[in-house]
Amino acid sequence: MADHKNLLRMTDLSKETLEKILKVSAALKKEPENDLMKGETLALIFEKPSLRTRVSFQLAAEEMGGRALVLRPDEIKMGVREAVKDIARYLSRNVTIAAMRVFSHGTLDEFARYASIPVVNALCDEEHPCQAFADLLTIQECFGRTKGVNITYLGDGNNVCVSLMLGAAMTGANMTVGCPKGYEPPKEIIEEAKTIASSTGAVINVVNDPKAAAKGADVLYTDVWVSMGQEEEKATKMKAFAGFCLDDECLKLANPEAIVLHCLPAHRGEEITDSVIESKNSRVFQEAENRRHVEKAALLYALGKLDQVKI
Ligand code: CP
Ligand code: NVA
Repeated sequence: MADHKNLLRMTDLSKETLEKILKVSAALKKEPENDLMKGETLALIFEKPSLRTRVSFQLAAEEMGGRALVLRPDEIKMGVREAVKDIARYLSRNVTIAAMRVFSHGTLDEFARYASIPVVNALCDEEHPCQAFADLLTIQECFGRTKGVNITYLGDGNNVCVSLMLGAAMTGANMTVGCPKGYEPPKEIIEEAKTIASSTGAVINVVNDPKAAAKGADVLYTDVWVSMGQEEEKATKMKAFAGFCLDDECLKLANPEAIVLHCLPAHRGEEITDSVIESKNSRVFQEAENRRHVEKAALLYALGKLDQVKI
């Protein structure tokens, strides 16, 4: 396990490695089965609900000849029944890789500090890197490239938005975030994305006008307004985000061939209308399927086996 790596943030990857993950993902989509995870066991640890992440990681490990164990929040009660650092050391003696969906990024850092196995971020409060891989692969499939593609994200500048913004900057896609005042991505992340963008030719913008953000978009993207764990903020957030719904009017402002993406689950009538998510522009299920393909590449990266896939 000498060359294993954690994948906790997009910027754990170089631009070149991100490009390679996308190429390997596309190759594995064409040839889904291999034995690159033979003898490996993935622990899938969840502090929050999931459909896509659970299904895609488990199938990714199994289609590559490995095993997957799903550990639900009520089973292990991370940090309540048992300390995170004890779970990390126990699991390190029994499994060979972990993917974790947690509330706080700090939990990932703590687990990774005590674990001797690689750790992959399967969503936390700050990032959702595997989602961004699937988004970028979908954009590549639809446009044949990411460079110069105009992505507009409408909504909360949190986990999904942050990973996509960094991924866009790293792969030369332009990203405009349209969000209400006070819900912008963290300042240091915007700066980091702009610095990366200066080396790839990408343009990163954050605006508070949803219609201005949607204008000329090739990709219209949104995510729920109330993220898992924010249920108490629902009333405040519903007020703040009114006007940021991805609706037919936004779609009309985008380029005629624009695609619509959403990480799912979607709340129709809140962040996106039924008519837009069901429109001919929508690629949300292609995007969701891509989670399984990109997570194979993410697991192989973390296990130090990315080079073993012919691309
Ligand atoms: N997009 C995503 O991560 O979906 P789940 O929450 O269902 O895993
Ligand atoms: N921002 C959402 C993403 C769900 C995949 C959340 O954190 O709940």
